[in-house]
Amino acid sequence: MAMTGVLRPGHVAIRVLDLDEAVKFYSDVMGLVETGRDDMGRVYFKCWDEQDHNSYIIREADQAGVDFVGFKVLDNETLNKLEKDLNEFGIETRRIEAGEMLETGERVRFTLPSGHEFELYADKTKVGNGMGLTNPAPWYTQSEHGIAPVRLDHMLLYGPNIAEVKKIFCDVLGFFLVERVLGEDNETEAALWLSCSHKVHDIAFVEYPEPGKLHHTSFLMESWERVLRAGDIMSMNEVAVDIGPTRHGITRGCTIYAWDPSGNRFETFMGGYHPYPDYETITWTWDNFAQGLDYPQRKLHESFLTVVS
Ligand SMILES: [Fe+2]
Repeated sequence: MAMTGVLRPGHVAIRVLDLDEAVKFYSDVMGLVETGRDDMGRVYFKCWDEQDHNSYIIREADQAGVDFVGFKVLDNETLNKLEKDLNEFGIETRRIEAGEMLETGERVRFTLPSGHEFELYADKTKVGNGMGLTNPAPWYTQSEHGIAPVRLDHMLLYGPNIAEVKKIFCDVLGFFLVERVLGEDNETEAALWLSCSHKVHDIAFVEYPEPGKLHHTSFLMESWERVLRAGDIMSMNEVAVDIGPTRHGITRGCTIYAWDPSGNRFETFMGGYHPYPDYETITWTWDNFAQGLDYPQRKLHESFLTVVS
């Protein structure tokens, strides 16, 4: 399949309680690369192997959580078409001018029925991964600094009306439903894993009464050994760990979840499989959800299911 339309999660904007503490955490412990600061007080980071200028943006606020999520689309023609499609579907959009975020083009912003601010954009300055495009080395020195994930991979968001959210992603934005969890009635969808690519998920949603909440942002590691090394680094730095190392039944991801100093959960993971859009959706029933969540331990972790920012 040629990849067109919506390509991938491009950026996520996160609120932190103490900017200096957060910058130190994301630089030294997570090993992200700081790429800039703007006059709104936002600090921009990227993962070492990402080509675009930024993917993880933080700002100081009274409450932790997510400000907005941005997905990159193929080009401006695609951006215009998707905005028209969203409007025809009944979704109001607004344009945010190029340059409002550092090194980022015009964005099309709208509010999801789950209460999350979501946006599409076509342009972000390519700064490369430090290894060039001719005869590149397989890894960069920055990849040995801190946890050092390869890339921002996906996010799991909590909010209401995920049935409506699914329609927008699948009927308008070209995503497909890879996996789902049914609620106690064995009918209603309680959680959705959606892909716009060859990845097992690019974004996921859980039905939750409070709008606009963040469960986690996820960072891809190169191997299971790198996930375990991330766990070592978390412990060396006394990072609050939620669950893992373990493997989900859902998506087959091998993972550790932990919190940044402000209480925003993040994931360091590897694995999963590579679905195509013609794959049939995998369903997890409520009575078997413990395996879906934590396959080896078959455990419903209370904090994992209830703590969001
Ligand atoms: Fe995840």
